[in-house]
Amino acid sequence: MPSNRRAPSALPLRTIGIIIAACAVVATLLIVTRGGDEEAAADPVSAGVPQHAGAHDAGADAAVEAAAPEGQSLTEVDKTFLVKVRQAGLWEIPAGKLAQTRAASESVKRAGLHLIDGHSKLDQLVREDARILGVALPNEATAEQQGFVKQMENAQGAEFDRIFANLLRASHGKIFATIAEVRAGTQNDLIRRHARQANQTVLDHLEVLEDTGFVDSATFQEVETAVKPK
Ligand SMILES: [Fe+2]
Repeated sequence: MPSNRRAPSALPLRTIGIIIAACAVVATLLIVTRGGDEEAAADPVSAGVPQHAGAHDAGADAAVEAAAPEGQSLTEVDKTFLVKVRQAGLWEIPAGKLAQTRAASESVKRAGLHLIDGHSKLDQLVREDARILGVALPNEATAEQQGFVKQMENAQGAEFDRIFANLLRASHGKIFATIAEVRAGTQNDLIRRHARQANQTVLDHLEVLEDTGFVDSATFQEVETAVKPK
């Protein structure tokens, strides 16, 4: 098929010209960007190393500890807050699981699923933040919280629903107020972000627990008394 053939000498010359031009462009780019590459290698952000917002990655530990800017102090209130978030997960996840087998109401089972999901995520975050901030976390819920779980383990059906909704609604109401206090006063960026996440999780749990319809007015009164400004 002769019509598809080109003149044998024209193509190589043109190709050589293109290659020379391309080499010149590449050489220029290498010279221009070399300095930038060296800077990027020293800076993990511009070097393309994934960074968790707020230095949650392991590589940022030293930076957070060594170069904490003014106002990044960690108070006892901040530390206690992380401990409380950890302990919340240590009894609410078991409570959520108990709801799946012992509850009579679908709304209680649904609330249980929210507890499992919310605290699984929050627990991962609190362990990460505590590691960065050097805060020791417990591996057990408080004696009171363990008592709550025992109460639920000994209940079934409608009785379980009532105990579950009231114990958990009371607890969430109190911690909701604590989160607001921590968020209002902390000077630590990581604690601020943690309070935001905890606030969203607790609000979700308040709502699904109220949606069960099993929360007594006595429980609301108990919370009101507990959180009332002194
Ligand atoms: Fe919760």
